[in-house]
Amino acid sequence: MKKIVILISGRGSNMQAIIDASLAQKWPVNIAAVISNRTDATGLQYAASKGIPTAVVVSKEFSSRDAFDTALQSKIDEFAPDLVVLAGFMRILTSGFVDHYAGRMLNIHPSLLPSFVGLNTHQQALDAGVKVHGVTVHFVTAELDHGPIVAQATVPVHDDDTEESLAKRVLLQEHIIYPWAVRQFIEGKLSIVDQRVRISQ
Ligand code: GAR
Repeated sequence: MKKIVILISGRGSNMQAIIDASLAQKWPVNIAAVISNRTDATGLQYAASKGIPTAVVVSKEFSSRDAFDTALQSKIDEFAPDLVVLAGFMRILTSGFVDHYAGRMLNIHPSLLPSFVGLNTHQQALDAGVKVHGVTVHFVTAELDHGPIVAQATVPVHDDDTEESLAKRVLLQEHIIYPWAVRQFIEGKLSIVDQRVRISQ
């Protein structure tokens, strides 16, 4: 059975969608731990309510990015995961950390990458005047919000959209494609060829 560790920084609705899908669809998976970099991440409570071990490695207690990532890596590796799932984990990661989990770390980003990297993606989309926006699940590489794309979903942008209304529409899609993508990994269906993800049937 594959083991996964989920990293969160906040409410953890994507984490919840993955936990719920894994239970409802009886995935052959052990969600070994949910780890946060913030003690006030509300998603930790949901994970605990499902009997999943939780841990916090407080990022602001470390003097450097390297020191934090080293501590986080040690904590993650206690659970020996096959896959690390970043679910609203709001940290820029060092290349050493990313390399350690190469090919076994996924992220969800609320835009159609490569458009709108970084923060405030919905406002970026509104400012750009795009008619279609969306969400991307990708393997993590050292470059922020880049890496081989596993799945994307699109939503329309309406004339009267606000950042909030657009975020809400995108989040509904996040909760569909992230569990789907994680399941493909767990079932061994993903491979990376020339920086592109192939999904076997
Ligand atoms: C989600 O919208 C996710 O795509 C985004 O943070 C939110 C977390 O929500 N992630 C990023 O912006 C990463 N760059 P959640 O805690 O409810 O899953």
